[in-house]
Amino acid sequence: MAEARTGLRVALDKVADGAFIGWCGLHRWDPIFRNASLGYCLDDVAWGHGYATEAVRALLQWGFATLPIVRVQAEVDTRKPASARVLEKAGFMLEGTLRENCIVNGEISDSWVYGLIEREWPPPASVVARVG
Ligand SMILES: CC(C)(COP(=O)(O)OP(=O)(O)OC[C@H]1O[C@@H](n2cnc3c(N)ncnc32)[C@H](O)[C@@H]1OP(=O)(O)O)[C@@H](O)C(=O)NCCC(=O)NCCS
Repeated sequence: MAEARTGLRVALDKVADGAFIGWCGLHRWDPIFRNASLGYCLDDVAWGHGYATEAVRALLQWGFATLPIVRVQAEVDTRKPASARVLEKAGFMLEGTLRENCIVNGEISDSWVYGLIEREWPPPASVVARVG
């Protein structure tokens, strides 16, 4: 992605011991429409410690400061409420539902579409206080 200039993916390592725990990335970067999509995946042993939230916030901070983007979008399998929560804590707004958009292990599911626009970043303290 980096070579094609369509996005990037960063490795997430724990500060304490350097263990690789997953990745976080911006992909489908469109320099004309000035948007990109966010994705992430963490090893399940690393869940529940706030690592995804920390990584997403850091990548958004870098992305809005570095890339000429005005919007970041993320699509979340509706069976993954923890993932939706990570986005809401970063200030993303739920914008709609893509029906039967993903198939995992042969099972079809809807996806929620979340969006964050540059002028809403970083989320105001009132939003952070409300959603965490
Ligand atoms: C989704 C995922 C990234 C979360 O990683 P994580 O490091 O555990 O996330 P965080 O700890 O930063 O935040 C998770 C939040 O979801 C909440 N949560 C956990 N399970 C939940 C559930 N079943 N329903 C609602 N919220 C839930 C947690 O309480 C936490 O919110 P809080 O801080 O307000 O308490 C991780 O589960 C994962 O990699 N899943 C598989 C891949 C995936 O879903 N990728 C996303 C595709 S866009």
